Amino acid sequence: MIQVAARGAAFDVEKAVRPVVRAAPVYAREAESPERPARVVRLDWNESPYGPSPKARAALADLDAMHRYPEIDARTLRDALGRYVGAAGERVVVGAGLDDVLNTLAMLLIEPGDRVVISEPTFGLYRPLFALHGAEVVDVPLLPGFALDADGVAAAIDGRTKLAIICNPNNPTGNLFDAATVERAVAGANCLVAIDEAYAEFAGVAHLPLAERYPNVAVLRTMSKFAGLAGMRVGYGVFPEALMPYLLRVMPAFGNVGAGSAAATIASLDDLPYLNANVARIVADRDALANALAELPGVEPLPSATNFLLVRLPVADAAPIVGRLGARGVHVRHFSRPDLGLADCLRVSVGTPEENGIFLSELDTVLGSVA
Ligand SMILES: Cc1ncc(COP(=O)(O)O)c(C=O)c1O
Repeated sequence: MIQVAARGAAFDVEKAVRPVVRAAPVYAREAESPERPARVVRLDWNESPYGPSPKARAALADLDAMHRYPEIDARTLRDALGRYVGAAGERVVVGAGLDDVLNTLAMLLIEPGDRVVISEPTFGLYRPLFALHGAEVVDVPLLPGFALDADGVAAAIDGRTKLAIICNPNNPTGNLFDAATVERAVAGANCLVAIDEAYAEFAGVAHLPLAERYPNVAVLRTMSKFAGLAGMRVGYGVFPEALMPYLLRVMPAFGNVGAGSAAATIASLDDLPYLNANVARIVADRDALANALAELPGVEPLPSATNFLLVRLPVADAAPIVGRLGARGVHVRHFSRPDLGLADCLRVSVGTPEENGIFLSELDTVLGSVA
């Protein structure tokens, strides 16, 4: 007994944890300011300000089988998502958010030393997630105007490259890549190309037709943005049929989607007019917000096909502005990594007209105080 306790005391955490994990960053929301403003406007994570369909709320209220596991292969949910995008449910993989589907993809493909090609600035999870799986993450930076470097992507793909990720429309820049350029990148790749279209509904552009023409294309989506279900954590992907036997070996049991999240998703997809009306409102409000921002001296909102705007400010470093906005209860994002070239920008999600108005006037005030 004493001996067992003594051996336990020698447990060395640093030795136990993989070096790649010890070196990994913590995925965290930006530090909150010590001030606690009474009015808080969250425009930092590209959530829907309108929340889910009433049908989703009703489905959750009616849930009567919390004590039972959901379907082992999430088949009803996969079929509903497949019907929504126009693909067979057999080709759909689900997860606890799109982040989780990316993890499933890494489980499928990545051996230590394999390569993943991304184009920064892009969604901040790709690099640390695939690095945690032992991948070497290769960046083919976006070109001026945040255009995709299709030839660069094709040239970067070598014998160790297992995956290229194209985020379109791209987060955090907000722009939609030209369709011919995306197709050129896909055609030039002999690895799997995952097109992350988390914001597809706002762009009105879907890449499934490309996936029907090229056997190496997967399309990734989420219920977090357009459907207002970020808190339910439901993401999915449509994959080439030939990959499915293997994907089903790595997709977690139940697809990692709880019964409530599945029910809310299925009910939402039965209420598309409601969801589409919210998307239309958000797109119109985004354009109105962009016009109003352009009226502020030196402020430049960049073109967006999403539910957020990347905004250049007339300062070298926008971090203090973002910090001051946070202290005044208005939360937006800043991207401080110097090599991304976004230090002078903030990213703001489109909220309700009232929230957008608060953001505008607070930004005006804060910019005025630094001028
Ligand atoms: C481009 C992109 N992909 C994936 C995700 C993750 O979405 P989910 O909430 O489904 O994990 C996000 C969330 O911000 C995103 O912007």
